[in-house]
Amino acid sequence: MVSSFLCCYKNYNFIAGLTTAEHIDSLQSFEVQDSDIFLVTYPKSGTIWTQQIIISICELDGGLKEYPMNWKQMPWLEYPMPEEYSNRPSPRLFTSHLTPTLLPPGLKTKKAKVIYVMRNPKDNVVSYYHFSSECCHLETPTSIEPFLQIKQFLFFSLVAGSSWFDHIRDWHSNKDQYNILFLSYEDMILDLKGAVKKICSFLGKNLSEAAIEQVVEKATFKNMKNDPKANYEFVPKVRVQNFMRKGQIGDWKNLLTAEQSQEVDQLLQEKLGDLSLKFIWE
Ligand code: PPS
Repeated sequence: MVSSFLCCYKNYNFIAGLTTAEHIDSLQSFEVQDSDIFLVTYPKSGTIWTQQIIISICELDGGLKEYPMNWKQMPWLEYPMPEEYSNRPSPRLFTSHLTPTLLPPGLKTKKAKVIYVMRNPKDNVVSYYHFSSECCHLETPTSIEPFLQIKQFLFFSLVAGSSWFDHIRDWHSNKDQYNILFLSYEDMILDLKGAVKKICSFLGKNLSEAAIEQVVEKATFKNMKNDPKANYEFVPKVRVQNFMRKGQIGDWKNLLTAEQSQEVDQLLQEKLGDLSLKFIWE
């Protein structure tokens, strides 16, 4: 059963009260522009980090209208905003946790670019667990055990964003229909500069070495933690932590039992084995 913190529409769980069925339906007629840039992720996969990188790249490339907060500069398409996006200068930047069918069909027919970031499911589930304990919009897990019934979290879709497996499969199996770059959170951790360069190249932005260094500097965990434009400190929280929690690979080892870890391995093989995805676990 889906909790009262969620509302399910078109087989996808949204945070209750933050959007409407009408708004989600309206995305089917949202007019995508060739110059649009979309960042798509499953929740807790490195969204605000990649937002910071994309925004910094576009700012340094020149011509980006500045907004006081990253979430305004690169809004989540699934949450209604009073602003009319058609008036924004290009490139328009958008963020989304949605699956392909819920996003505007124009993403497939226009030259708009999609950057998809995924994270290994063990760290993803642990990050989600901590976030759920802190964020007022999500149901607080009563203890680690029920929440970490991995099958419920990742498989039976009982959280906002629905099933991690479905999200990964939907995007990977439809990739040929999009102008898309796949990145992983772990690759970004291991080589941030390399990731910034990949994103620049995909976006067709020819930044100088010094500008690339600037993007990297703005996107470090330490800098983002202190950057009010990027750290989402304003989101109402139950406890003191925020979106910038640990920012590491392998924190799952502090929380998942060996049994739970094996269960994820097994599910991963069953559900996504045919996609031959490679994950970095530590
Ligand atoms: S959300 O709520 O879906 O938008 O969350 P999301 O931004 O996708 O994921 C939050 C996790 O990303 C980590 N993060 C970073 N890691 C490394 N470097 C930087 N700069 C960075 N910025 C955010 C953040 O700490 C969350 O991961 P955990 O494991 O919880 O620390």
